[in-house]
Amino acid sequence: MKRSLPSRLVVCSIALVAIAVAANFGALGRGASAAEEWSTENAARAATISTEAGPAYESDGRLKLPANYREWIFLSSGLDMSYSARSAADHSMFDNVFAEPTAYREFVRTGTWPDGTLLLLETRGATSKGSINQQGKFQNGDVMGVEIHVKDTKRFQGGWAFFSFDGPGAAKRIPATADCYSCHQQHAAVDTTFVQFYPTLLSIATLKGTLSPGYKP
Ligand code: HEC
Repeated sequence: MKRSLPSRLVVCSIALVAIAVAANFGALGRGASAAEEWSTENAARAATISTEAGPAYESDGRLKLPANYREWIFLSSGLDMSYSARSAADHSMFDNVFAEPTAYREFVRTGTWPDGTLLLLETRGATSKGSINQQGKFQNGDVMGVEIHVKDTKRFQGGWAFFSFDGPGAAKRIPATADCYSCHQQHAAVDTTFVQFYPTLLSIATLKGTLSPGYKP
């Protein structure tokens, strides 16, 4: 899917991920696979299912990567979504969006996100070659990047902050001047989140009347 949002806003996460892949994961890939490096599956296996809903930070303010995010509520997959008319990436990627379950349930009840919400975007390689597949694309095992959008009104001015992970370790906050914030602020349907691309949530927000005033379908 291609969207034609203003091209000056184009520092899309997907392009950044593509750079990150080239810069970091290429090197990782030689020793261990990217999937092993992230090893969220291993962490999830070791952990019991977490009952802790909100964000967890290191003492220096870096956000910890939630180990069991693959057990969260799945909102949507985008394939090769691009924020500009020209196509940026020369390879195909899926992005998968997950919501932390407590926050998801609150959204279903109220049409908006409570304090402590964690939304996670995971990028995976798309491939068409494998097993019996003849057409179309499926996701391969390589996690290429993870980004988190967190609502923590006590900690962040404006309520929300972005974090970009380049491995399983904690991540520093992306500065508020980055265009992550302006694009989400200007174009996202509900409270700076892209609910217009999460089909199960859009109808709820529409019914509850929680769409942002500036949102255009
Ligand atoms: C030009 C617009 C634009 C910019 C800039 C942008 N995003 Fe997004 N973002 C989107 C769209 C569109 C989606 C919906 C993706 C989907 O449906 O898969 C999204 C979804 C997300 C999500 C899932 C939760 C949510 O808020 O809907 C996260 C996390 C995210 N982006 C992080 C980032 C980060 C980090 C940056 C900056 C490095 C960034 N984005 C920059 C358009 C943008």
